[in-house]
Amino acid sequence: MTVHFIGAGPGAADLITLRGRDLIAACPVCLYAGSLVPEALLAHCPERARVINTAPLSLDEIMAEIAATHAAGHDIARLHSGDLSVWSAMGEQLRRLRALDIPYDVTPGVPSFAAAAATLCAELTLPGVVQSVVLTRTSGRATAMPPGETLENFAKTGAVLAIHLSVHVLDKVIAELTPHYGADCPVAVVWRASWPDERVARARLGSLKTAIGAEMERTALILVGRSIGAEDFAESRLYARDYDRRYRPVGTNPRFPETAKGGAA
Ligand SMILES: C[S@@+](CC[C@H](N)C(=O)[O-])C[C@H]1O[C@@H](n2cnc3c(N)ncnc32)[C@H](O)[C@@H]1O
Repeated sequence: MTVHFIGAGPGAADLITLRGRDLIAACPVCLYAGSLVPEALLAHCPERARVINTAPLSLDEIMAEIAATHAAGHDIARLHSGDLSVWSAMGEQLRRLRALDIPYDVTPGVPSFAAAAATLCAELTLPGVVQSVVLTRTSGRATAMPPGETLENFAKTGAVLAIHLSVHVLDKVIAELTPHYGADCPVAVVWRASWPDERVARARLGSLKTAIGAEMERTALILVGRSIGAEDFAESRLYARDYDRRYRPVGTNPRFPETAKGGAA
């Protein structure tokens, strides 16, 4: 018996991996975080599966469900929104499973920052402009930020910031970022990326407050940085005609001669 943690993706029911879908179909029990996981994914559960929305449950209650299912010898599909590596509350569940000696595995999902970038049709890391993306958030009622992980500190790097769980404190975000990025820095807010009612607001930091609709609360991602909407950037060297590389040797003395002859790389 195994607990399969599965990234359910950002919202669209077809943005789940084939592995995740097949695991859901193979498990007689499905626990899903109902606040963000699309209910359409539950259509993959087998007929007569036990399907439980964990949004109203405490961690103790969730673990009791898992332990009882384990005792009955059944596999579990455990769904969380987006990818499980960020803000999924998976860590605390895995720790308890280790203590109970219950096996588990993890299947990744499409994270919301990637879905939001796809909505914008944007590459966030443009050569010569930005080469780093910081996935971050601001302090919430349930979770304080560790000292040092401030918007101001991340802003000093000039990286693109993908700010989660923070659209309700937009004024604070704008105030902390503007001294570092400038009021003319491009910003986009993507609300419910990949859901049918998805909305996008594109603006500059200085005009963001007026560009965003009142309905764009809660499930929204704020992307800030000079690569957003940029046209003035270098082309990648990787595809330059004169760039000698393993998969496209160039010149009379290529760096990877074995590949040039069709041999092992
Ligand atoms: C608890 S976190 C979950 C993050 C998730 N594990 C991921 O991989 O993106 C919830 C926050 O992620 C962001 N988020 C999740 N789904 C989103 C979506 N479809 N569109 C925009 N933002 C989303 C919002 O900032 C939301 O407040």
